[in-house]
This record gives sequence, C-alpha cells and structure tokens, in this order.
Amino acid sequence: MSYILAIDQGTSSSRCVLYDRQANPVAMAQQTFTQHFPQPGWVEHDAEEIWASQSEVFRQVLRDAQLAPADIAGIGITNQRETTVIWERSTGKPIYNAIVWQDRRTADDCIGLKQAGAEAMVKAKTGLLLDAYFSATKIRWLLDHVDGARGQAERGELAFGTIDSWLVWKLTDGELHITDVSNAARTLLFNIDTMQWDDELLVLFGIPASLLPAVKSSSEVYGQTRNQEIGAGIPIAAIAGDQQAGLFGQLCINAGMAKCTYGTGSFLMMNTGLQRVASSHGLLTTIAWQIGDQIHYALEGGVFVGGAVIQWLRDGLQLFPNAADSERLADSVDDNGGVYFVPALTGLGAPHWDPHARGAIFGITRGTTSAHLARAALESICFQVDEVLQLLSVESGSPITQLRIDGGAAVNNRLTQFQADISSVEVVRPANLETTALGAAYLAGIAIGLWTVDELNRKWRTDRAFHPQMPQQDVKSLKHYWLKAVQRAKNWTE
Ligand code: G3P
Repeated sequence: MSYILAIDQGTSSSRCVLYDRQANPVAMAQQTFTQHFPQPGWVEHDAEEIWASQSEVFRQVLRDAQLAPADIAGIGITNQRETTVIWERSTGKPIYNAIVWQDRRTADDCIGLKQAGAEAMVKAKTGLLLDAYFSATKIRWLLDHVDGARGQAERGELAFGTIDSWLVWKLTDGELHITDVSNAARTLLFNIDTMQWDDELLVLFGIPASLLPAVKSSSEVYGQTRNQEIGAGIPIAAIAGDQQAGLFGQLCINAGMAKCTYGTGSFLMMNTGLQRVASSHGLLTTIAWQIGDQIHYALEGGVFVGGAVIQWLRDGLQLFPNAADSERLADSVDDNGGVYFVPALTGLGAPHWDPHARGAIFGITRGTTSAHLARAALESICFQVDEVLQLLSVESGSPITQLRIDGGAAVNNRLTQFQADISSVEVVRPANLETTALGAAYLAGIAIGLWTVDELNRKWRTDRAFHPQMPQQDVKSLKHYWLKAVQRAKNWTE
C-alpha cells in the first residue's frame, strides 16, 4: 500500500503515472482520444471515451508495474479544467458530448452579458472574466439545446461536472458527485471569497443549483473507488485542476513563484499566497489549492493555443508527420525570415480575450519556406507567454525573475532559450517534467500522511537553467512585429 497513482486527464490525452514512496515515477501510460470539431470554433469530447481511455491507462499502469489495486495507497486526480459534462443521475449517461474549454460557441452570449453590465459583479465574485472559456455558458447552452434537458435539470435529474467530477463519479460508480475548489473556481459560478456556489451567479446564467457537485478541498480522502473495471477500495485523495496541480508539482508554494506549462495551450500561473490579487490587465484571479483550511490564490494567464499550433501544422497543413519534426524544421533556418504566426485558432485568451480573433500569418514573401512557418509557430508560443509574463510582473507588483517550465514543449532547448531571451528572465527546467501528474500525486500523498510539503520541497531538482542572451535591440524588434501581427489578427469574425 505505498504507491500513489496520479490520473492526469488532459485535453489531448488521458494519462496515469504511478509513484513510489519516494515520489519517484515508476510507471506511466497514456492514450489519446478523439477531438470533435462539429462546427468552426466548436470543440467537443466524448465523455464516455474519456473514461474508457482513462480506465484503460489505469489498468495498463498496474499491469506494467505488476501491482494490484490494493497496492495503491491513494489516487490524485488532475484534469483539463472548465470542460463541461452533464449526465443523467439515474443512468450515468452524458446527455451530450463534453463541451471543451476551447469551444467558442457561447462567445456571443458572453458579449451579451457584458453589454448588459454583468462583468464587474462576475469578476468581483469569481476573479474571472465573462468568456466562453469558462463552464457557465457551456452549461446553459446544454440546458437550452439538448431536448428536455432544462426540465430534467429543474427536476434534479441531471448532474454537471468538470472532468474531475465526471471521473470521480465513474470511479465511485455514482456514489460521489464532488469537485475541488480549484476546479469550482473555473466555472464562473463559484464565489472565491465565500467559497460557495453563488446564488446571484446561478440566476445570471440560468443554472439550477441541483446540477452542482459538492465542493471539497484539494487534498483529502473523499471516498473510495467502487468501479469493477479498475478495482474497488482505493482511496481517492486529491483533486486539482491541471494548471494548479502543475504549480504545486513545480513546488511554487510561496507567493511570487511562477510556472508555465507548455501543453495544448500555455498556462502561466503565479502563486500569490493567501492573498487574492485582483487584475486590471486581463489576468485571472483564481484558487491555486486548498490544503486543510488554508487556501492559496494565484494569478493566471492562459494562452489558448500553444502546442496545438504544432498539431495544426502537422494535421491541418500536413507539414510534417510527427510533432518532434517541427523542431528540426525550425532549426534548419537561422531566423523566422520575417514571418509572424498568430495562432488565434480558437480566438485569443489572456491578455486579449478576443473570441473573434482568428489565426493569421504575416510577413510571407517568395522566400518563405515551411521551415520559416515552423519557426514562426514555435516562436508564437513564446511571444504569447511573454505577453502574460510581463503582465504578471506588473500586476503582482514584483518582477518575475525565474520561470519554472514544464509540459511537452519544455524539452525543446531552442524554445526555452527563446523564451529566456525575449522575456529577459531565467527559465528553469526541472529534472522531473511531469509536474502536473506529480502535483496531483503530492496532494494525494499529503492527504494520506505520506509526505509533508517541506519534505517535498527538498526534493526539487533542476535539469537546466536558461539565461537571456539575445541583444536587447533584437528583442525589441521581434516584439514590435509580434504585437503588430496580433493587432491585425483581432476582431476578425466580428
Ligand atoms: O484551462 C484549460 C487547461 O486546464 C487545459 O490544459 O494541459 O489540457 O492543455 P491542457
């Protein structure tokens, strides 16, 4: 009984990572699942397929490590946030596909609410902005567009959950309908001061309270698994949204520490300690985690399309067969050749919040090659991160001097050096890059008394640090053209 299993349910894949008593990873399994794009700007997942893939990697990890469910002391769950599932309580069947955080179908609803003057109240209560990114308007869309759903909801027959809630429901065969504060804080329905679902917000979005899960801390034993596919009796001991889990896994446990995860999107988050810091530049104030009674807050800027731009070059343009080839292609030229790629493929997130922006490539000449395109795409990931990073420094009142990084693209040395260069910051890559799963495992291990935060903090190891090298005038010129390109990509579909 001394292993911790992290379930990491992300936008592009379902993963499980098994950790031993010393928090070393001993087995990992991963499976991708289908992305559905039924209309331009819409992104859906099949919640049953998410469960099937998650349950398969769960079993695979145990097989690979030759362990039985009884060897697992606790499960920590971390998940893509905001993505919205509604299912029937009686059958456990989803009433529609999950609407993914990237989905823009409710952009105009949000604009309508803004025009009606609701944003100040929403921001004061939730720390968020009125944007289609968050769950509330997705829930309302489901209730208004799925036959009979609103009536069922009003009769208390339906349950809403972000992916963590859905997984716990499946793991416990419908016994538990819960979420944690870090996920609840992403719905636009949770008041981050009172730490309760908020009646005024429920009325604003037209959402019956009976749909909602109970809200728990991020690190406690909520109950035990009951699902026969994966084995009964394993304690479920942590839940945290993936970016918050990443912040914890990076051991950014003190105010002022920041991390960036380069995944499908790029997410910067700064721990602001026990203090809630309001943003006036388009960043989000959110809950990092709750351990015991202590709640840590964070400032966050999410860039919607980060690594997904490389996926698009691979699958949409078929520029190369594997994402890893993008690095080689980008490295085959000395610079971007004047090409700037704004990957606003699902609009723009922080700090622009423009649902009507669309992807655009500027500066193409007859000399432009696919290599310049790949280079511009990689650079776009860093430019977007830099915009958020500069604002985090301004808003928190202290410049970020070190950025801890993780996620798929963090292994790319050119990308990390470019980030250090344009952001004039030390970029530190940890020895263990799987910080999201690690954070969930840490929170679960703390819940069952396996580790303390101080012990975990002493385990932190750096793989490599990148320091700024680029002459300032080159940085200035690159940023100048980037900002010009972003301005031109905005408001495209308005
Ligand atoms: O807010 C969305 C975020 O949680 C998704 O993260 O890693 O699946 O791109 P990721």
